[in-house]
Parts: sequence; C-alpha cells; structure tokens
Amino acid sequence: MVNIAILGFGVVGSGVYEMIKNNKAVLTETCGCEINVRYVLDIRDFSSHPEAEKFTKNIKDILDDPDVSVVVEAMGGSHPAYEYTMDCLNAKKSVVTSNKEVVATFGKTFLSCANQNGVSYLYEASVGGGIPVLHPLLKCLSGNEIVKAYGILNGTTNYILTQMFKNQKSYESALREAQEKGYAERDPRADVEGIDTCRKICIISDIAFGGFVDPDAVHTEGITAVSGEDVSYAESRSCSIKLLGYTKKREDGIVVIVAPFMVSKDFILSNVDDVYNAVTIHGNAVEDVTFCGRGAGKFPTASAMVGDIIDIVNNTAGKNREFGRKDVKVVDYKSEPFSFYLKLSGSCAGIEKVFENCKVLSASDSSAVIITDKTTQSQVEDKVKNASLKIERLIRCL
Ligand code: HSE
Repeated sequence: MVNIAILGFGVVGSGVYEMIKNNKAVLTETCGCEINVRYVLDIRDFSSHPEAEKFTKNIKDILDDPDVSVVVEAMGGSHPAYEYTMDCLNAKKSVVTSNKEVVATFGKTFLSCANQNGVSYLYEASVGGGIPVLHPLLKCLSGNEIVKAYGILNGTTNYILTQMFKNQKSYESALREAQEKGYAERDPRADVEGIDTCRKICIISDIAFGGFVDPDAVHTEGITAVSGEDVSYAESRSCSIKLLGYTKKREDGIVVIVAPFMVSKDFILSNVDDVYNAVTIHGNAVEDVTFCGRGAGKFPTASAMVGDIIDIVNNTAGKNREFGRKDVKVVDYKSEPFSFYLKLSGSCAGIEKVFENCKVLSASDSSAVIITDKTTQSQVEDKVKNASLKIERLIRCL
C-alpha cells in the first residue's frame, strides 16, 4: 500500500480523493498496490465527512509520518503552498501539484530541492488541466529542438468567449457559469486578465527552452477588451478570437506573449471551444503536434494528478528536469512579426499608402479597420505615429 496526503480539499483536492476511490480497481492494477489517502489537510471543518478521521489542519501530522511518500498539493495560491511544498520535499516526500502559480514562480527551486532529496516534483496538472502536454514535452518530444509552442491555456476565458459569441450570453453570466463549474480561479482576474495563461506558457517555455521565464517579464493582455465588433470582423474573415499563450525560440532569445489572437479556421485551435484547451508544439523533427482536452474542472485535473502519482509509485518519473539550466533571454515582444488586425482613428483616407498590401475591412475619413501584411508591432507603431494616426485596437493574427 502507498499512503498519500492531499493538501486542500477544494474542487481539485476532492477530485483526486474521489478519483482514487472511484478508480480503485484500475489504480491497484496499474500500480500493483493500493493507493490510500491517509491524510487530507484543510483549514475548514470536515467533522461530518464520512472519513473525518483523515482530516487534519496540521501539516506536521503529514511531515512526521514516515509512511506518507506522496503529497498532493491542491491548495492553490503561493502561500502556504510554497512553504508546505518545500517542507514535504525536504522531508523526502514526492509532491504532485496542479498549482501553476507556484510552479511558474518557484518551479526552479522546487525541482532542484526535489533532486537534492532524491524525490519527484511533478506538475502535469498545472498546464492544460487533464491534457497530457508536459509529459510529452519532457519525454516523447525531448529529442526535438522545440521551435515554438502556442495554445489556449485557460478554460475559463475560452468558455466565456465561446458562450458570449456562439450562445450570445453576457460576459458576466458566462463568467458566473465558469465559476459554478469550478473552472475559474478564486480571483477571476487571474483568468480574464491573462495571468493564468501567462503562468502556463512560462512553464511550457521553461521545459521547452531550458531557461526560466519570469511571468512578470511577459507581455500579458487578457480578454476584457475584446468587443463584439472585433468578433464580427473575425467572423467575416473565417477566424475566431482566442486567448493564446505563445512562445518561440529565435536567434536572439525567446519571445513570449499572452494576448487575444485572431485565429484562422485553418488552425485546429480556432475550433477549440468551451472549457477545452489545446496546445500546438512545433518540434524540428516532429513538426506540429496538437494536444486537446478539458483544460479545467474537478476530474480532468484529478486525472493528470493521479497520473503523476502513478508515475511516482511505479518509479517511472525519473530525475526531475530542472528549470533555468540555460540562460535564456526574453526578447522584446514588439519585434515578433505577425499580421495585425488594427482599428485606427485619425485621418485614414490614404490608409493603403501607410500600410502597403494591407486588407481594408472598413474605412472612412476618420477611422479604418485593416489587416496588415506581416510586420512587427514596433513598425506598426512607427507608421501610425508618422501618419498621425491612433491605434484604437490591435489584435495579432495567426
Ligand atoms: N482557472 C483555470 C482555467 C483553471 O480556467 O483554466 C485550470 O488551470
């Protein structure tokens, strides 16, 4: 029997607890032994829970129990998740997490601490919910030079965008539904302002490029400024609008961007709706691979965490690949070429002369909506300044 502890009995922690119970036969067969939840740590009162004796409010109960070998951190937030994770690793207990905030911020420290203690720190559930995306990057694709990765990494915002634009729901009611379904963060600003997507694309970048990308250094836009007008123009071009995390290796470093993109229907991501996430990874040998599935929710997230537990129990996790092995420079996002959707104001009569080869979607003397040729944001801003125009809206196109 392998004894585990679960830290946090919210949506994710209770999902792991229930999945271990519901799938007992499968897990016992896969691991060759039973997985037993010995402790659940939560500050709330669970005295009427059928297994109330398992609940504790004291992390020391877990740290001091030599029979607990795996700890599931499903608390969310940075503190005390950071302290408890370090304590568990130093007590030579492997840790499995879904907490992208701590992985993106402290992953470098945790992975090195886990290696020093000869235990595992696994975080598959921190990116893409139930989708296996980090394991393929760390294992099956690890012989490739990764060129770029981009994806829909936040279920809440994808759910909101889909409900607003396919089912004509209001932003507020779509957000409320995402909260009721357990997709949204405690503070939904982390979802709608792109912070959650940023943490996830940083984790992907850290694995793919071997550096450490500080989430605070990443240009991050959310979905709050996306308007019905943007969507109508997107639809008129057979595109959808998706909040993407984007990371790409270049000669001079890596570029990392979080922003709404106008995604052409030619891309699989364009048709990924509701709570689904999808990540496309481009390796120099494999070319494009796209992973798609439920990016948030109780059991999809539990599925990834239980997979990590099995990896530890079966001794197949291997040595932790540390973040920050290389110095990786994050380059100016304004130097990355895209084609841009621009809504401009000012004297727009000669807009085709300012943006050669642009496609004009609508124009009057005082405003224009255009799609530019491939260029950079720096060049766009220079042209706009020289022509005394103003950018009212800018969306990158994929
Ligand atoms: N709030 C996150 C999302 C949860 O909506 O994707 C999963 O990380």
